[in-house]
Amino acid sequence: MATVIGPRTGTQKGHEAMSDDEAKVPRGRAWRAVALTLFPDMFPGSLGQSLAGQALEDGRWSLETVDIRGFARDKHRTVDDTPTGGGAGMVMRPDIVDLAVRDVKAGPSGDLPLIYMTPRGRPLTQDRVRALAKGPGVAVLCGRYEGVDQRVLDAHEAEEISIGDYVLSGGEVAALVLMDACVRLIPGVMGSGDSHAEESFEEGLLEYPLYTRPQNWEGRTVPEVLLSGHHANIRAWRCAEAEAITRERRPDLWKVYTASSGTPGRDEN
Ligand code: 6GU
Repeated sequence: MATVIGPRTGTQKGHEAMSDDEAKVPRGRAWRAVALTLFPDMFPGSLGQSLAGQALEDGRWSLETVDIRGFARDKHRTVDDTPTGGGAGMVMRPDIVDLAVRDVKAGPSGDLPLIYMTPRGRPLTQDRVRALAKGPGVAVLCGRYEGVDQRVLDAHEAEEISIGDYVLSGGEVAALVLMDACVRLIPGVMGSGDSHAEESFEEGLLEYPLYTRPQNWEGRTVPEVLLSGHHANIRAWRCAEAEAITRERRPDLWKVYTASSGTPGRDEN
């Protein structure tokens, strides 16, 4: 029921065949992600590509799927039932989900915080992502149908997290989003170390606009200041751009930023 996704399944390399050099991070200490899901084939998905995929192969993090349907005991392997009180759709049964969660908690990933992806959850923030990335990993329960019976979430004190104010067809894509946001913060996963400092949310602002060559692309030119080589001016321009775009697009972020940073422009609210 539990399937490890990574270098061992990817290359069919046995333990003996893997030298210490190939296993670049000791397995026990690497950041761990577990997905409890009815659709294990949705993993690693995007996390098997690019920098996250390379880091997975390098053993900088690990990914395991737990197939919830594997804990169904009847011959039809039923995992859902009708909502008590009536209403549309189906609800994932607490007894089946409980068996899957207990299986994880009894194993080597039993120390991971249990997270349930749901539009009812608290909104995911970069602060929460940073804290989760610093910890041992995450065990993420992915709901399908209308959702999971509340009692099993309460019993296991699952943290309910949403990735935005819209509804997905299931928690798997949301789990991939959460894991992606965490994995890219693991040391050594992204190329150069300090590129996090200036990106969106790290300063409470959206990021300034980016440009590369050519200087003139189809009549659209790069802002002159970026060609000046004057680093203080460039910094000031980028800061002004970040402030302007944040004020315009995200008044919620702008309010927090102006309240905490003593930045000029209070009269322009
Ligand atoms: Cl975390 N799950 C689902 N199913 N839908 C969502 C969501 C999560 N966040 C926003 N919509």
